[in-house]
Amino acid sequence: MGTSISYTDLVKPSVLNQPVYEPGKPIEVVAREFGIDPETTIKLASNENPLGVSPKVLEAVKSFLNQSHFYPDGGCYLLRQKLAGLTGLTPGQFIFGNGSNEIFELVGHAFISEGDEVVMGEQAFIVYKLVTLLFDAKPMEVPLVDFTHDLGGMLAAVSERTKVVFLPCPNNPTGTLNSNEQVLEFAEALPEHVILVLDEAYAEYQQEPVDLRPLMADGRKIICSRTFSKIYSLAGFRIGYGYCSEECASLMNRVREPFNVNSIAQAAALAALNDQDWVDKSRELNEQGLKMLSDFFHAKGIPFVPSRGNFILAELGDCARIFNEMEQEGVIVRPMGPYGLPEYMRISIGTGIQNQRLIETLQKVLDIS
Ligand SMILES: Cc1ncc(COP(=O)(O)O)c(C=O)c1O
Repeated sequence: MGTSISYTDLVKPSVLNQPVYEPGKPIEVVAREFGIDPETTIKLASNENPLGVSPKVLEAVKSFLNQSHFYPDGGCYLLRQKLAGLTGLTPGQFIFGNGSNEIFELVGHAFISEGDEVVMGEQAFIVYKLVTLLFDAKPMEVPLVDFTHDLGGMLAAVSERTKVVFLPCPNNPTGTLNSNEQVLEFAEALPEHVILVLDEAYAEYQQEPVDLRPLMADGRKIICSRTFSKIYSLAGFRIGYGYCSEECASLMNRVREPFNVNSIAQAAALAALNDQDWVDKSRELNEQGLKMLSDFFHAKGIPFVPSRGNFILAELGDCARIFNEMEQEGVIVRPMGPYGLPEYMRISIGTGIQNQRLIETLQKVLDIS
């Protein structure tokens, strides 16, 4: 058999243009690499909930394990009913995914064609760009102003070819947020042929997250996405959802893999929604941690971006070196080179003890007291 034709010769051109997503390093990988104890290594690199999984969720998951030989309910019936009750939306307005990342991909499958333009912030959550490129569309990246999405600039970037606009509230990695008034005004100003995807991955950390449901009910083209990976502590289960009009949800449903959300994740998500105490505790812990790290950066004169998420972006200098040295100390954070911010580190908020360890490690590697 000849080997003159390789897979690379056969692959779709868009695959070769696809950047590779660099995730936060798992604890076990770093511990193995540096020969350190995984038990004492901490990961503040992927904006996970440091409180961990709620005991009530663990109970629910355990009682579901012996049903794992059944396929899941592809329609996520119980979760759909629960969310409809909580939001006042109809059950038909929801679409579920393997993390909210899959919701973005379903938007791509359903709506983004070759040659379409997709408007996003330049340092917006990187998956918007990956999805756009995956569907052979053109990312139109609008520079941020003061690390915040420039809604006027994004509106100006909208053209006849624009299909989708991605707006995170707040953004990762900057942690910044446009005001509710600005977002509402922006949503109203977009032309009819453009779909606004509002990414609400960190909405539960806000006192009063922007509410686009009235505009949605008015017929505006809006898809909101939420996740169970952040305040609900279920990142490893992979479950998120979108809400939009029933017409939009049913179109996205057509391009969804039939059993895209596994049954354990559905049970976990339902239990997490029923455990609001855990959510409140998580929010409170995050507020304390944000204050602790902000106060530290402030006291040491380290520039940082005030954050509304469960992470914070700080300008530390040579982050490739600092990241390496911190890893050797058993503290994993996230350098922002892939976002075009090589001087910046994104640090997820941990427990009080983890935040203290982070501060001590930073003092050591930055040689400050
Ligand atoms: C802004 C934003 N959106 C979406 C996600 C994706 O979350 P998931 O796919 O775990 O639901 C993340 C994860 O870090 C995020 O920061």
